[in-house]
Amino acid sequence: MRIAFLNQKGGVGKTTLAVNYAAEMARRGSRVLVIDADPQGSALDWAAAREGDPLLPVVGLPRATIHKEIDGLARDYDHVIIDGPPRVTDLARSAIMAADLVVIPVQPSPYDVWAAAEVVALIDEARVFKEKLKAVFAINRRVVGTAIGRDVADALATYDGVPVLEAAVAQRVVFAESAAQGMAVWEVSPGELADTEIVALVDALEDMK
Ligand SMILES: Nc1ncnc2c1ncn2[C@@H]1O[C@H](COP(=O)(O)OP(=O)(O)O)[C@@H](O)[C@H]1O
Ligand SMILES: [Mg+2]
Repeated sequence: MRIAFLNQKGGVGKTTLAVNYAAEMARRGSRVLVIDADPQGSALDWAAAREGDPLLPVVGLPRATIHKEIDGLARDYDHVIIDGPPRVTDLARSAIMAADLVVIPVQPSPYDVWAAAEVVALIDEARVFKEKLKAVFAINRRVVGTAIGRDVADALATYDGVPVLEAAVAQRVVFAESAAQGMAVWEVSPGELADTEIVALVDALEDMK
């Protein structure tokens, strides 16, 4: 499967969810490749921060040719995960064209709900000639014990054709701590809440295939 984590808004968790999704698939025995499509190179930084053996390969491809190059790049892998750029629309379009499934991370905030209109417009545009393209919202950084996650899920439901995943990911410091070491949450705190949430997210995305 080719899956892109996209949102024109920065800081919503594209890189965090992309690398943890990829790492969970690697844990399950799949051959995974991460394409870092962000000119800022955060997924590459994540991989470089690691000591010891890499968990999975990350290649940088911040060019609007991802959809043309993906067949060649994907040849030896079961799953290719594209970590999308903020803002740059031509890169986002290319990532959408390269993907079977687009995951749109959103934080539980009305600003994120409004900002999502931009990426949803790109999805709608792509679906004109790519009917089978799947897209889904994933709520990230939900604050435990608050209702805003539910409110945001309700607000996002007004975007047609892009459902909201039940499996939300909470605000947990281990996401930043593990990233600083170039590791996945399952490596740093296996069996704990962040790990369980990523497993549930991956299961839900696998079900969408
Ligand atoms: N669920 C989470 N809990 C805690 N921190 C998070 C979570 N998701 C992302 N972060 C942190 O928020 C910041 C932005 O996340 P990042 O994945 O880089 O977003 P994007 O790739 O969309 O710009 C990073 O510092 C990251 O460690
Ligand atoms: Mg990023």
